[in-house]
Amino acid sequence: MRQSLVAGNWKLNGSLSSISELVSGIREQLSSVKNAELAVCPPYIYLSHVQTLLDGSGISLGAQDCSDQENGAYTGEVAAAMVKEFACKYVIIGHSERRHIYGDTNEKVATKFAHVVKNRLTPILCVGETLQEREDGHTEVVISKQINAVLDLFGIEAFKNAVIAYEPVWAIGTGKVASPTQAQEVHEEIRLTLDAQNKDIAANMRILYGGSMKPENAKELLQQPDIDGGLIGGAALKAEDFIGIALAAN
Ligand code: PGA
Repeated sequence: MRQSLVAGNWKLNGSLSSISELVSGIREQLSSVKNAELAVCPPYIYLSHVQTLLDGSGISLGAQDCSDQENGAYTGEVAAAMVKEFACKYVIIGHSERRHIYGDTNEKVATKFAHVVKNRLTPILCVGETLQEREDGHTEVVISKQINAVLDLFGIEAFKNAVIAYEPVWAIGTGKVASPTQAQEVHEEIRLTLDAQNKDIAANMRILYGGSMKPENAKELLQQPDIDGGLIGGAALKAEDFIGIALAAN
């Protein structure tokens, strides 16, 4: 039985005060969430602050990315081992904004994935196609390339303690959500790819959907057999909406 995970990706948003308010809003409504695991991924600089705010709540903490380097002369980078020190459980890797705006290639994402696993953190590996790729009928190829980049280098065992997030690029922050059928098709395909290598790992893999998930559309998506939660951007910035999505996973 896979426990749903609803993870908030706060991206480049928040301040000390707005984050305190958001976390206290989430904590106030937390008792209604029965089954889903909740996680929040603030900007690096707020990890310590949020770690304190989450104390005793059972909500997990995550980082939005990490370096593909371990340490050294890499100005501006943050290593997986560093986020580990702030009680992080998760690290988002390969988000489409990292891939498309900051040039993270499949190879770079795979290296980051390995650093996360090595530090006994759980990677949330994001995959997804652009609108053009979908229209050209390349969805499956793009996603298998993104997953195979990790599989080929590190093998299926690296996925033992991982989460995958399917995030169609055309649905991120656009208000255009994938239909439950469209999302389920891709999620099933991802599980089959893993299943061909290891049945247990595939069966236990949590595959999240991300892209304009809101309380209004969450239930139908989360009812699909291969959708095990959500990676939430915009709606994770409002306590009520974030909890609303978690309730849909109940
Ligand atoms: P969105 O973002 O929910 O605002 O579409 C999702 C994501 O980028 O993880």
